[in-house]
Amino acid sequence: MKLAVIGCGYVGLVTGGCLAEIGHEVIATDNDSAKMAVLEAGRVPIYEPTLEPMLASARKAGQLRFTADPAEAIHAADVIFICVGTPPRETGAADLSAIDSVARMIANEARTPKLVIEKSTVPAQTGSNLKRALTVYGRSGGTLFRVASNPEFLREGTAIGDFFHPDRIVVGIEDSASAEQLREIYAPILEGRFSCPVHSGKCPPAVKPEFLVTTIASAELIKHASNSFLGLKISYANVLSDLCEKLDGNVEEVTRAVGLDPRIGPHFLKAGLGFGGFCLPKDIQAFMHLADSVGVDFGLLREAERVNRQRIDRLMEKVHHFLWVIKDKQIGLLGLAFKPFTDDIRLAPALEVIRRLIAEGARLRATDPEAMERTRALFPDIAYSADPYEVARGADALLLLTEWPAYKKLDWARVHKEMARRLIIDARNQLDPLEMRLHGFEYDSFGRAGSRA
Ligand code: UDX
Repeated sequence: MKLAVIGCGYVGLVTGGCLAEIGHEVIATDNDSAKMAVLEAGRVPIYEPTLEPMLASARKAGQLRFTADPAEAIHAADVIFICVGTPPRETGAADLSAIDSVARMIANEARTPKLVIEKSTVPAQTGSNLKRALTVYGRSGGTLFRVASNPEFLREGTAIGDFFHPDRIVVGIEDSASAEQLREIYAPILEGRFSCPVHSGKCPPAVKPEFLVTTIASAELIKHASNSFLGLKISYANVLSDLCEKLDGNVEEVTRAVGLDPRIGPHFLKAGLGFGGFCLPKDIQAFMHLADSVGVDFGLLREAERVNRQRIDRLMEKVHHFLWVIKDKQIGLLGLAFKPFTDDIRLAPALEVIRRLIAEGARLRATDPEAMERTRALFPDIAYSADPYEVARGADALLLLTEWPAYKKLDWARVHKEMARRLIIDARNQLDPLEMRLHGFEYDSFGRAGSRA
């Protein structure tokens, strides 16, 4: 099938690349000409494991091409995936101006019937507004537009694996023909007819994904409801971790036992510095705003968000507890990205930690396997190094802020030698408290009683 992807950000690139990989002919476009130049030159503007080789092989096979001309993409395809950004406005509501402008462009350019699919995360009711915009701006009055919602559940860092091995594919539709078209698009995934670029033929056993056909409004709600619930779970674990600190419990023991109840499940109960990134925090905000706008009180989410913001306060309390005065102390930061295996720092907790430490006069050194360049653009005065041992050199404290696996395997005897004061605050509960003390460190983490020196 001939598909167009409008918007070559993270979601657009992963979606377009994966759709090409399962055999569709994909043409992708974006209104950012600098980004298109990078893509057309065969490079990829973001870091996501497996993405670069997958895009290269899809282009080589002629399944995927990029164009800076949106009209070309619209003319070429029967199905158009809208993957543009929906960033938060001051109020927390999603800014839908990019969706609106793409809708007008499609309406203006289309000469043949199109199925227009919302892939971007949007609040409920966007589908009906999109349909109206397509209809009223349609040039050749008779062009038929159908609208569908197909939310993505791709996690950064594992997005390509998530595309090939989803738990569910949700399609919100207005007529059964759209459901059938979407089922056909995803048939290779539903029937396991693909060669997975992540696991090279050795995919872990997985349950067959469910293909869920819903109304458009339900599909839009499902995306916000899922991400908001994940945020709730994390904040719940983080409050448990505060309780454990006060009552000598160990949050890992508690959440493990709680998560073994299949009604609760083990995932997203990891306590630490809280959730960041461009999905969970912004989706919670947008969902709260949507609920407010229709007079439904979703205070539950407000609370989850408040708990999440306070994680930085909790970390700063620990830093103060140990260092007393922060001014002129040298602090090393391990990790900057909002989670491992990405270079994404949008709404990363590390950024707020940096702001607070700088405001108090700390001297900072930082490392991250992928996110240093993006962070340098915001904080040029920090000393960056790819070498964690250099970051430890002369430091009064090391803060572990992102759970990159490499930080679990550091040569701690060497780190110990490098540091001026052997203090490690592990904001992601990555290291073993006992082992760290045996190495001679003062060590603290979140909610693991007895771990405070
Ligand atoms: C999320 C959703 O998981 C995905 O389905 C959706 O499509 C996009 O948004 P992503 O933003 O990539 O994905 O990250 P995710 O893995 O959900 O993690 C979000 C944040 O929560 C990270 O900062 C992570 O460190 C934090 N987190 C996650 C915790 O603090 N504890 C946990 O137990 C899990």
